[in-house]
Amino acid sequence: MIAINIHELTKDYFVGFWRKRRVRALDQLSLTVNEGEIFGFLGPNGAGKTTTLKLLMRLIYPTSGHAEILGKPFDDVAMHAHIGYLPENPYFYDYLTAEEFLAYSGRLFGLSSTRVKSKIDELLQVVDLKDARRLQLRKFSKGMLQRAGIAQALINDPEIIFLDEPMSGLDPIGRREIRDLILGLKREGKTVFFSTHILPDVETLCDRVAIIYKGKLLGCGSLTELLVGDSSAIEMVVSQFNYELQTALRLIATDQNVAGNMLRLTLPDQAALFNALDAVRAHGGQVVHVHPLKESFEDYFVKLFANESISKAP
Ligand SMILES: Nc1ncnc2c1ncn2[C@@H]1O[C@H](COP(=O)(O)OP(=O)(O)O)[C@@H](O)[C@H]1O
Ligand SMILES: [Mg+2]
Repeated sequence: MIAINIHELTKDYFVGFWRKRRVRALDQLSLTVNEGEIFGFLGPNGAGKTTTLKLLMRLIYPTSGHAEILGKPFDDVAMHAHIGYLPENPYFYDYLTAEEFLAYSGRLFGLSSTRVKSKIDELLQVVDLKDARRLQLRKFSKGMLQRAGIAQALINDPEIIFLDEPMSGLDPIGRREIRDLILGLKREGKTVFFSTHILPDVETLCDRVAIIYKGKLLGCGSLTELLVGDSSAIEMVVSQFNYELQTALRLIATDQNVAGNMLRLTLPDQAALFNALDAVRAHGGQVVHVHPLKESFEDYFVKLFANESISKAP
């Protein structure tokens, strides 16, 4: 089942005062997100991520294009009761406590007061803020605020949760907490769509990712699909090799070097791997490891953006 279906969504902003200039923030974005997957929407600052999320939330209107969420047009009001949203820089009501904030959000969705009460208990547990339930939000750390924001996005028990940069500005522990929370949502069968400009976030978390740059989709798929390139090469490390084995392998490998008592080989393909294994067996060597040489996602990104401002880590 498809959770989100976006068709050629385009957004122009008009900027300037006297003479308005048209700026295309999103250019014919099309993509689909499957039900139950964690989908990463990745791109550098200014790529159009927040614009996309705001369009899907109907906070702003598209210049052209459309989308379906849960099989309904994205302007279907009833459908919006089944999705949750964490904005990029959520404005929190500083003087509300965590539980007051959640109670307020719950009532906006028309939940009964008993339902709100049980939901708050459940969500404070989920986001690990039980001890802070009576603390005012202005006393929260950035990580706690982000978790309170996620609890708010879950108050209506949504099927899809949209999170705009949920991990930016957090320290490594805070990021891990959000990551675990997102994985927990997936285990419950929810679909998570989140934007980020931080590479490791998508590498460790996402079933599929889309890469957006200057309003245009550059690629979409699982990380393994995106990381093609010359991926047939294989690295093998051998120990207990003698001179004869090394000589035999030199004819098979495209590259080899010795480090300590290990011989490291680069083999161009599977056929070369089998030949190398035969040679190792014949000469009594020991295989330490065999490992396909795939391009890393970071390499892929570096090529894609050459000089752009994408962070490797926050
Ligand atoms: N309200 C707005 N008015 C004019 N331009 C905007 C507005 N919001 C965003 N933009 C521009 O649209 C582009 C995409 O912005 P945004 O969607 O916020 O990117 P991201 O979330 O990926 O950092 C940027 O060039 C930004 O300056
Ligand atoms: Mg943004």
